[in-house]
Amino acid sequence: MHTKVWKINSINIIKKDIQEAADMLKEGDVVAFPTETVYGLGADATNASAVRKIFEAKGRPQDNPLIAHVASVAQLEGIVTNIPDYVYTLIEAFSPGPLTYILPANDSCADNVKAGLSTIGVRIPSHPIALHLLETIGRPVAAPSANVSGKPSPTTANHVYEDLNGRIAGLIDGGQTGVGLESTVIDCTGDVPIILRPGGVTKEQLELEVGTVMMDPGLATASVNRPKAPGMKYKHYAPEVPLYLFTGSGEAMKEFVDKEKQAGNRVGLLLSNQTAELFQANAPIHLLGESIEEIASSLYDGLRFFKQANVDKIICETFSEKGIGQAVMNRLRKAADRVIEG
Ligand code: TXA
Ligand code: MG
Repeated sequence: MHTKVWKINSINIIKKDIQEAADMLKEGDVVAFPTETVYGLGADATNASAVRKIFEAKGRPQDNPLIAHVASVAQLEGIVTNIPDYVYTLIEAFSPGPLTYILPANDSCADNVKAGLSTIGVRIPSHPIALHLLETIGRPVAAPSANVSGKPSPTTANHVYEDLNGRIAGLIDGGQTGVGLESTVIDCTGDVPIILRPGGVTKEQLELEVGTVMMDPGLATASVNRPKAPGMKYKHYAPEVPLYLFTGSGEAMKEFVDKEKQAGNRVGLLLSNQTAELFQANAPIHLLGESIEEIASSLYDGLRFFKQANVDKIICETFSEKGIGQAVMNRLRKAADRVIEG
């Protein structure tokens, strides 16, 4: 299959290109597009055979449901039932934006979007290209991250191209995404929202709006309690080179790296700018940035980076779990082969 690529910048959206991409979606093809979190791989959520193409292109397990993306609250109301009041409070504060609501589904969307569940995840993305595309198609669009299953999510069109060229009908290149990690997924079927996947909207931000917010116990110990978001049980976000997470100080990490090198291992380091200053280029370093927001935004690119470098393993430092640090550490733990207690 030939993958058509449109290059569009978010400020100067080209109507004709968006229309062409929307037409492809309406005809039942899959098209990748940028959102403010990561690139999504879209298909018409009301068309089961279009949705099936997403699972095929990604190699995604059939039991992992997809998020339906919509352009407005009215459209969201059109595909779910029993919306609690706190959801309206959260919509007011965070939508459009990186927050996905799990709610009881009606039968507007195809069954394979929900992977057999009675609930559906719905999100209004804030990226101007995503919003424009959704408004143009006028239907809910099912879209997981546009990567091959198991790999880090794409934060540039290049990442999507690397993974899916020739397997999808179209790709809108809108440059680098902003948040860099996926949306926060919250279960809104009970009296209190439960975070099933930490992400772009932090627990602290949610609590400021609605008070108590719970964490799915399955998140802490994925192997003991089955996580409630089916996707969270798979090994995920994994780079092609083994990833070791190092929990100790920068100094201890330096010692560990030296020992690895003495043992003949070629290591690549994934570090914040601050920690990198401790290392005098004794190994290839990929910088993640200074603030935790910068680190979140560049993490997936960093996990993909060492594929080209000649290294046997990647060693990454760990970060404080405050704010979006919670999502950063969730992704790193899922991507890691080993945790080294330093
Ligand atoms: O930021 C994002 O959310 C991106 C962009 C493209 O919007 N999308 C994304 O989709 O990350 P995906 O499919 O890679 O991850 C969706 C997660 C999975 O862990 C899935 O299991 C969970 O949401 N999920 C979807 N529907 C669900 C449902 N009805 N109940 C529980 N978990 C659900
Ligand atoms: Mg994904």
